[in-house]
Amino acid sequence: MRIHVLPDRAGIGTIGAALVAAAVRDTPDLLLGVATGSSPEPVYAALAARVAGGLDLGGVSAVALDEYVGLPVDHPESYRSVVRRTVVRPLRLDPARVAVPDGTAADPSAAADAYDAAIVARGGVDLQILGLGHNGHVAFNEPGSSFTSRTRVVALTARTRAANARFFGGDVDAVPTHAVTQGIGTVLQARRLLLVVTGRDKAPVVAAALTGPVDEFCPGSALQTHPDVTVLLDEAAATYLDASLLDDPDRTCAAAGAR
Ligand code: GLP
Repeated sequence: MRIHVLPDRAGIGTIGAALVAAAVRDTPDLLLGVATGSSPEPVYAALAARVAGGLDLGGVSAVALDEYVGLPVDHPESYRSVVRRTVVRPLRLDPARVAVPDGTAADPSAAADAYDAAIVARGGVDLQILGLGHNGHVAFNEPGSSFTSRTRVVALTARTRAANARFFGGDVDAVPTHAVTQGIGTVLQARRLLLVVTGRDKAPVVAAALTGPVDEFCPGSALQTHPDVTVLLDEAAATYLDASLLDDPDRTCAAAGAR
C-alpha cells in the first residue's frame, strides 16, 4: 500500500490524474472503476484538464460502483446522473462504454447479479477509484459486509443516509433506503485500487481502515489485503496516521497495524 499525503485537493487531483493517465497510456482500452462522492472530484477535475489538453480517453470503458434503488434515472442525484455530470462529460468518455448499476430494475437483485457477471466477463476492473464513508463503507458496503460479497442490493445505514442528505436538500427522508453496490469481493478483484479521502472528519476512519484490524466491521480495512493500492489523502484526513507509513512503498499498513 502506497500512501501519499498531499497539501490540498488540487494536489490530490494532480497525482490521481497522473496515475490514471499513465494507466491509460499502458492500457488504452482500460476498464476504469469510478466512484461518486466528493473525494474523487479533484481527480476527475484534473483528468478533465488533461483531456482538454489532448489526453484521449476514447478507448476507456467505465463501471460505477453503486446506485440508489428506486430513484428515477434522470433524478439529478441518481448515480447515473452524477457519473454523467462529473465523469462521462468532462472526461469525454463514450457513454456507450459506461455502465452504472440499474436501481430501477423490476428485479434489482437479478440486475445486480448481471452487473457483476458483466464486470467479470469483461476481464475485471483494471483501476478502481474509491472513496471511504465515515463508517468505513466502501461503495455502499456498510459495516458487516462480507469481504467476499458480490454486487447486490443493500440497506443503507441511518448514518450513511444522514451523510448523503446534503445531496437531497438536507432532507434525510428523501435519501433512498436501499442501494445496489458492487461487493467488497468484487472491488478486491480490481487489479489496482486508488483510494481518495479528504477532510478532517474522515481522519479517524482513515486510520482505522488503513492501520487497524482487518475486520468486516470496517469495510475499508479490506483494502489492506489487496496487493496494489494507492491512497491519496489530504493532510486533514491523514491526521491520525503514523508518519512512518507515509510515502513508503515497502511498508504495508497491515504490518504497521500489527506493530
Ligand atoms: C457515498 C458513496 C461512496 C463514497 C462515500 C464517501 O455514500 N456511495 O462510494 O465513497 O459515500 O463519499 P464522500 O467522498 O462524498 O465523503
